[in-house]
Amino acid sequence: MIILGIETSCDETSVALVADGRRILKNIVLSQVKYHAPYGGVVPELASRKHLEKILYLIDDALSTCPPDRIDGIAVTVGPGLMGSLLVGLMFAKTLSWVWKKPLLGANHLEAHVYAVFLEHPYLSPPFVCLLASGGHTELFLFKEHGSFELLGSTRDDAAGEAFDKVARVLGLPYPGGPAIDELSNKGDPYAFEFPYPLEEGLDFSFSGIKTAVKLFWEEKKGKVKIEDVAASFQRKVVEVLLDKLTKAASLKGVNKLVLSGGVVANSFLRRKLEELKEKGFEVFYPSPPLCTDNAAMVAAYGYHELLRGRIAPLTITVKPDLEIGEDFLSS
Ligand code: KG4
Ligand code: ZN
Repeated sequence: MIILGIETSCDETSVALVADGRRILKNIVLSQVKYHAPYGGVVPELASRKHLEKILYLIDDALSTCPPDRIDGIAVTVGPGLMGSLLVGLMFAKTLSWVWKKPLLGANHLEAHVYAVFLEHPYLSPPFVCLLASGGHTELFLFKEHGSFELLGSTRDDAAGEAFDKVARVLGLPYPGGPAIDELSNKGDPYAFEFPYPLEEGLDFSFSGIKTAVKLFWEEKKGKVKIEDVAASFQRKVVEVLLDKLTKAASLKGVNKLVLSGGVVANSFLRRKLEELKEKGFEVFYPSPPLCTDNAAMVAAYGYHELLRGRIAPLTITVKPDLEIGEDFLSS
């Protein structure tokens, strides 16, 4: 079965073709980062306009790999995300579904990130504890089985990626800040400075305190300490927090299988620490860097499981900008 996936929830326009929920035939991802960089963050109005300009070309490109009559369903992210951006993807998906008479399949973007891991580890089986760490989200949840999720914790303020982006701005680094901090940190000492661990109790996260601590520290010490050491120490603290909560959640739920996804999982220090967790006996799964960030292949893989469970979305379905993990987008 071949599913065409469409993802436009934030600032990546992406179209993909995935066979049987596990084999990527095509995954085209067009980043808008250069348009948003001058503003230091994603500008919603600009994002939807750019999706609208590009999506048709991406669909055309995908169809050069596989004609419509071989496609078994159209999967699209219905939420969460930016209202205008989601609408562009959903309108195209609905139109293709209606014109081609193919089932329309919805996808929860947060849950779909896990399917990037299934694509590269087809024999991964639930239950497992997941950490999604991206620019917009930091969510910890239990994946019980396909279609059954339990939210365990999320951020009370900034997302992990957002903290990277804001600290990068404080340090005078370019947007997006994650890759810039990652690269700079390679030349720094991650244990040079100790930044605080806010909200250490429980499974919720808080990153704005770490960001403020770095800001105050940098205002006082700029020129007296190495910027590489500040970046590396900040990065180490964020990674420590993420992995502490993830392993706590795993022990609370009695599982030792850990799955990670989202843009922050491209971080090289985090990936090194994940390899150490494997040595401690955890089973750890995470995507290769290109599949960590937003892409339509994960949406198509998610859609495949929706189709298997007979969950066809009606053409009246609307976008759900605030959709949560475990929330049923078909019934609301
Ligand atoms: O998943 P993603 O592409 O988009 C969403 O937010 O949905 O994640 C983008 C976020 C940005 O905040 C970016 O700074 C961060 O992921 N990021 C990284 C790295 N690469 C991207 N953070 C830390 N280290 C990286 N290497
Ligand atoms: Zn995402």
